[in-house]
Amino acid sequence: MKHIAIILAALTAASFAEDIKASADRGKMVYMQTCMACHQLTGAGIPGAFPPLAKVDYTIGDARRVVAITLKGIVGPLTVDGKTYVTGMPQPDLTFPILKEDKNVADVLNYVRTSFGNDVKEAITPEFVAEVRKEFADRKTQWTEAELKAFPAKAAATEAK
Ligand code: HEC
Repeated sequence: MKHIAIILAALTAASFAEDIKASADRGKMVYMQTCMACHQLTGAGIPGAFPPLAKVDYTIGDARRVVAITLKGIVGPLTVDGKTYVTGMPQPDLTFPILKEDKNVADVLNYVRTSFGNDVKEAITPEFVAEVRKEFADRKTQWTEAELKAFPAKAAATEAK
């Protein structure tokens, strides 16, 4: 009995890893089309202009926040790894039609969160993206640093339309 439980646990973990890997493989193409121009092939960004996506809490931390960033972008100064960026990230969901598909958003984020030295184990699912998209459907503006720091702050997030 004990053995069966161990085998089952191993199988579950394996299929979980498989899911994020398959999604990340698809997401590489999406990354090339929607993030690479700014965050670069290596995810290292460009000093003074575009922040890295490697080992940055905004990228590998809270899943809801990174989905929200990928849908709505960022405006104003943002400090990443002690460096302040003021370029701003235009709203990707308005710039790139392929990001209207929840699956593409999940795939690109699973790619980013498992590449460039990032090693997140839990996949972001299209269903989760759909939930976050719905939550912020009425929001028209990009996120500010103050809002991202306070995430998840549902009331504040919908207030500033
Ligand atoms: C037009 C350039 C541009 C594109 C395209 C772009 N970003 Fe960004 N991104 C930025 C800039 C600039 C910042 C820093 C925010 C600021 O300047 O206000 C940023 C910040 C971020 C952050 C938070 C900080 C960090 O380093 O983790 C994440 C996460 C992120 N971008 C993910 C993405 C993903 C995923 C894509 C593709 C779907 C993408 N970005 C596409 C320019 C871009």
